[in-house]
This record gives sequence, C-alpha cells and structure tokens, in this order.
Amino acid sequence: ITITVIDREGVAHALEAPTDMNLNLMEVFKMYELPVEGTCGGMAMCASCQCYVVSDHKLNEMGYDEEAMLSEAFYVENNSRLGCQIPITPDLNGLEVKLAPES
Ligand code: FES
Repeated sequence: ITITVIDREGVAHALEAPTDMNLNLMEVFKMYELPVEGTCGGMAMCASCQCYVVSDHKLNEMGYDEEAMLSEAFYVENNSRLGCQIPITPDLNGLEVKLAPES
C-alpha cells in the first residue's frame, strides 16, 4: 500500500508499505529513515512516533496505553496517534500522516 508521510519540514514522502510483514507505522517510518526515534521500541511509552492523521481513514481504536501516553505527550492534537500502535493493513492504502514535532 502507499502511505504519504509529511515530514517536519513539510516535505511529503510517498512510501510503499508491505502489508504482509506485520509492521506498524513507526516501523515504516524507520524503514525509510524518516527522523523518528521509536525509542521505546513500539511499546507506546515514548511518543517519539507521534503523528497526525491527515486523511479520513478509519484507524484501529486506541488502546489504553496509547491513550495514556498521548495524555502526557507534547504537541498532542485531536488527530494525534502513536505510529507504533497502528498496524499496517490493506485498508490503510492512501493514508496520509504528518510527523509531530520532536519532543
Ligand atoms: Fe515509543 Fe511509539 S515508538 S511510543
């Protein structure tokens, strides 16, 4: 599937993300060497993978850990999600997200 990621400089990157590798969105950011740390390794404990969902895709529901992390993180908006908590599935084709500022 194709996912568009707008980086912190406002540059859009169209990324090809495989759906058969059990990846999450944070891992796709890293696969393409976007400046996302993923410090906690995808445990919803660092918010370094925070992004804003720009397109109107219906994503998986937030889990308790993600909600808790986002209630403490900086730069949180209504459309904030943690990339590591979004599994890459075929219905996300065309998803557009914007990286949150580094915190
Ligand atoms: Fe740490 Fe997503 S990688 S919260």
